[in-house]
Amino acid sequence: MKKKLSIVNIAQSLNVSKTTVSFILNGRAQEKRISPELVERVLKYVEEVGYKPNSLAKSLRTGKSNIIGLMVEDISNPFFASIARLIEDRAYKNGYKIIYCSTDNDTLKTRELISMFRDRHVDGYIIAPPEGIEDDINSLLKDGMPVVLFDRHLPDVSTDFVEIDNLFSTYNATKHLIQQGYKNIAFVTFASGQTQMQARLQGYYNALNESGYKPVVQEIVFNQNEDLIMGPLTTFLKKNKNLDAVFFGTNHVGTCGLKVINSLGIKVPSDLALVSFDDYDVFKLFSPPVTAIAQPIEAIADSVITVLLNRLNTSSQHISSQSIILKTDFNIRGSSKP
Ligand code: RIB
Repeated sequence: MKKKLSIVNIAQSLNVSKTTVSFILNGRAQEKRISPELVERVLKYVEEVGYKPNSLAKSLRTGKSNIIGLMVEDISNPFFASIARLIEDRAYKNGYKIIYCSTDNDTLKTRELISMFRDRHVDGYIIAPPEGIEDDINSLLKDGMPVVLFDRHLPDVSTDFVEIDNLFSTYNATKHLIQQGYKNIAFVTFASGQTQMQARLQGYYNALNESGYKPVVQEIVFNQNEDLIMGPLTTFLKKNKNLDAVFFGTNHVGTCGLKVINSLGIKVPSDLALVSFDDYDVFKLFSPPVTAIAQPIEAIADSVITVLLNRLNTSSQHISSQSIILKTDFNIRGSSKP
């Protein structure tokens, strides 16, 4: 079998130092003021001989793999998919590649995925954490691994996180429904102790408490299987015929809610007004278009990767953790106007 070429072989063949070849192959030629002519000569030779750097050997030698581990709830969910894509683009422009995966909000699966990322010597982590992995993340931090949480945080873990102002967003949207004259307003959400879901529920309660209206909350068990969301939703809407408005706590609950409302022949907004968290194409196409809280997808992705790159490019571990809270937009449409 043909012997694998090393950086030493290349350096000897070109009569150039091993260090210079290494800088060129690691994208540091400009930083090290290596001439474009020499860069061109090395890269041309490397291509001619078909040299493939051994990434694992490199990461063991340099302590860097230039890989970031990205863990989201469900990579097929448009919210997480759009953020993951933006993070991937920014990371690549800064010399990093992304490995991403879905936690399904499952603690054990998340634990296994963190172990997999450790085996791959990723340089840093971006995680939308399920509950129950506080110890695993604290262990990463103790080992000097930068970890940026997003979409929700873990109160018992002191690390950087990026969230939106969930509580104000649902408070404001519920106040809007009240100002439109709705009085029997339900909040339908996933049963979850995650910080963003708890804050959304609290914002709804705060708005209703101010107006003295009775809260009506339906918490559905988180599930990828839409039938297991639509079933309880159908039962709930059939049972609560006195409702005049429904607020869906996430895009996933909202899209299932629209399907159920259609199947029950409910007219929007005359029978039931609607608001949903997460602005989503289907909400704009529904008739009438659905009033929705839009999360700043680009700002979330940009904040997450900027914080992580700063950690990766700064040797000092003594930068205090950042908590970045971003604002949402409230897009009022026909589904919440009588
Ligand atoms: O499914 C995506 C939704 O759940 C978004 O609201 C996001 O914030 C996550 O919490």
